[in-house]
Amino acid sequence: MNGRTIDIAPSILSADFSRLGEEIEAVERGGATILHVDVMDGHFVPNITVGLPVVKSLAQATKLPIDAHLMISEPGRYAEQFVDAGAKMVSVHVEADAHLHRTLASIRSAGAQAGVVINPATPIESLSEALSFADYVLVMSVNPGFGGQRFIGTSVDKVRRLRLMIEGRKLDTRIEIDGGIDLENIATVVAAGAEIIVAGSAIFGVDDSEAAVRGLREATVQWV
Ligand code: DX5
Ligand code: ZN
Repeated sequence: MNGRTIDIAPSILSADFSRLGEEIEAVERGGATILHVDVMDGHFVPNITVGLPVVKSLAQATKLPIDAHLMISEPGRYAEQFVDAGAKMVSVHVEADAHLHRTLASIRSAGAQAGVVINPATPIESLSEALSFADYVLVMSVNPGFGGQRFIGTSVDKVRRLRLMIEGRKLDTRIEIDGGIDLENIATVVAAGAEIIVAGSAIFGVDDSEAAVRGLREATVQWV
């Protein structure tokens, strides 16, 4: 699996929102390649975070592509608006959308990469059709809603099986993983086939976010 591009995607959920600009500059210096923004509606998940105006401001403040992870009910009503706000990647949960094909197509036609997300208890088989319509799959390795939760260990095998499914279908769908990623487990998830690595508390929950990004990247070097 060598020759792969690994993206480190800090999740701003654990950042200090009163100094978001500085926090982002630090992870840019550390070598982050994507900025992950968690959008929660207090309905699909039991927490409320940020929405379109914040994505719009961030898109003007950073050169990093913004990855909007929509943890909202009826994401099809809003997905395209997140692309218009400046997100280059927009992902929606299979559990939240009865019209996934239409939503993913709307993200692509608006000009962004379309991602499909599965919760820890959602089987990879639920992606068998959607895989053809998505640019990446986001495997949740915690139950969505909060930063700082413990990594669910079975996610490693799930990523491995998903990687085989993608390769078996000769697709180039990338795998993103989100939740509880740290220095201890990042090499394992990359070895299993994940290429876009989200980390919140392991980056923004420590004193030196710049060094934290660099450390996570270094832990993956043998796989690139
Ligand atoms: C959880 C979010 C994650 C979260 C990750 O619902 O989707 O992006 O911020 O935070 P950590 O890395 O602390 O688990
Ligand atoms: Zn997320």
